[in-house]
Amino acid sequence: MKNDELIESSQAVLAQTYGRLPVVLVKGQGCKVWDAEGKEYLDFVAGIGVCNLGHCHPKVVQAICDQAGKLLHVSNLYHIEPQIQLGRLLTKHSFADRVFFCNSGTEANEAAIKLARKYSQDHFGPNRYGIISLLKSFHGRTMASLAATGQDKFHKGFEPLMPGFKFVPLNDVEAMEGAITDSTCAVILEPIQAEGGVNLPAEGYLEAVRKLCSRRNLLLIFDEVQVGMGRTGKLLAYEHYGVAPDIMTMAKGLAGGVPIGAMLAREEVAKSFTPGTHAATFGGNPLSCAAGVAALRVTLEDGILENCQRSSAHFLRRLSDLQQKYPFIQEVRGKGLMIGMEFSREAKSAVNECLKRGFLINCTSDTVMRFVPPLIITPGEIDRLIAALDEIFSAWS
Ligand SMILES: Cc1ncc(COP(=O)(O)O)c(C=O)c1O
Repeated sequence: MKNDELIESSQAVLAQTYGRLPVVLVKGQGCKVWDAEGKEYLDFVAGIGVCNLGHCHPKVVQAICDQAGKLLHVSNLYHIEPQIQLGRLLTKHSFADRVFFCNSGTEANEAAIKLARKYSQDHFGPNRYGIISLLKSFHGRTMASLAATGQDKFHKGFEPLMPGFKFVPLNDVEAMEGAITDSTCAVILEPIQAEGGVNLPAEGYLEAVRKLCSRRNLLLIFDEVQVGMGRTGKLLAYEHYGVAPDIMTMAKGLAGGVPIGAMLAREEVAKSFTPGTHAATFGGNPLSCAAGVAALRVTLEDGILENCQRSSAHFLRRLSDLQQKYPFIQEVRGKGLMIGMEFSREAKSAVNECLKRGFLINCTSDTVMRFVPPLIITPGEIDRLIAALDEIFSAWS
């Protein structure tokens, strides 16, 4: 079938929640995807930071095939081997002692919010439920994660929101301290804001927040849903800053393209989740966990982080060259292969221009382009995108 016919069917039957681009993708391999008419694209979106190992990584595919022939699903009424393996790997390579598995980023954040409230009730009594979040943050679309998200545009039409959330600007520790009351139990933040426009913490900010949380007995929750799994050149983004949270959430790249979510916590905090307090039917499903074990091993053992760091340096340099050339590029910023380019004009029209030329790119707002390619991207592939952008920008000048 052709792209157009499939798009017509898509518009007839699917909920219209997404502003989709006019293309149907049917196949992927490494950093490339193909549409229904066989056109090839170089992918700088990677499923919005999901396909960190590229499309259909052979070791992930093999793990899925092996597991699919063995056991697809039972229930968390029973112990599940791939879940244990993934839990062991995650706790070995992070601050955490325990993992709760679920199916998405928003669900992982719901679990984190519930655990923070439960821990606080267990240790400090009732009415200590408030959570401080950051402006421009994004934590998901279900009701608690939505309430935790510091962007009004996502709230509109869904009020009343779950109470208890306050928002302060990124990099303003004083504002955060000022927002703490007797009812505050936790702080939630992305170590690097992704959807909000690729916003980096200032030097010393995360350390100061960590100290503040410890001093005021607040739990610190890091949302690593988008920046975890090697995206920033380290397995977890917080490792760049020398601080550790009490609770952390992951999803996106964790299982190499298969749906998964995880909430990790220190032992003392995790203890507040006792049998019956929280659950997810598909959480820690054998298939997604087998994929997760393979994805995590490849990330740690196959030079993925090293390639991410190398390609990041090249990408940032080439984007800075474009910035020198075009005055409407205001800033290039990022860490690893989470890179944003901010414009003084709208940038969204470049998405379609790139698509025509065979590149998938994405904007986080009208004026910020976000590049989150697979971590296996090469300097040569980056140069091909840079040449296309150069052509598009020169037509804008
Ligand atoms: C930082 C962050 N947290 C949470 C989410 C929500 O994840 P999901 O779409 O898997 O529910 C996202 C999604 O973009 C995200 O970037």
